[in-house]
Amino acid sequence: MTPTASHHGPRPAARPQSIFIRRAGPGDVHAVAQLWERAGLPPSSRGFRNEVARLRRRDPELVLIAMLDAQLVGAVAGSYDGRTAMVSRLAVDATVRRRGVGSRLVEALCTQFLDLGAGADELVVLDDSDSGDAFWTSLGFRRGDTAVYFVRERPEQ
Ligand SMILES: CC(C)(COP(=O)(O)OP(=O)(O)OC[C@H]1O[C@@H](n2cnc3c(N)ncnc32)[C@H](O)[C@@H]1OP(=O)(O)O)[C@@H](O)C(=O)NCCC(=O)NCCS
Repeated sequence: MTPTASHHGPRPAARPQSIFIRRAGPGDVHAVAQLWERAGLPPSSRGFRNEVARLRRRDPELVLIAMLDAQLVGAVAGSYDGRTAMVSRLAVDATVRRRGVGSRLVEALCTQFLDLGAGADELVVLDDSDSGDAFWTSLGFRRGDTAVYFVRERPEQ
């Protein structure tokens, strides 16, 4: 599904005090990959670790993690191509869900997008887990109905 939203008006989430959001560093790659795997995100062809490392190299300011004390409990990756800002690979550890961690990660990523100059009507979510609409609508997104995307598999090498 492809929800879209303006950057304005997300519902304020209940915020656990000790959650801290920051950029993922090189030392966080393994933990992010493990979290994505635990959360059941669909694997990429080269594996989660390679994906996290590549995303970080390309957009270091757009791979964010949530820390609870010393433990990594959430992660999200973003991209911005000059036209569309995209949110993907959002995952929160099952033990801390429904405490506002996912919302805070998305809000923090939106702040990064604004810093990069992404406009208010250019934000798209790639929800490759199809987690349902409840989370995204709670943040002011609506299900997109204008875009269709086409996929071409790469031929076997
Ligand atoms: C989707 C996900 C990231 C949400 O993270 P989270 O930290 O639990 O989300 P929040 O606590 O910020 O939730 C904010 C609001 O979204 C809605 N929401 C979140 N999860 C929900 C659920 N399972 N059922 C119904 N509503 C839900 C609620 O309105 C919630 O507010 P409330 O708790 O005050 O009622 C998390 O469930 C997850 O990691 N799921 C597995 C991976 C996935 O589906 N990722 C998204 C696709 S990339």
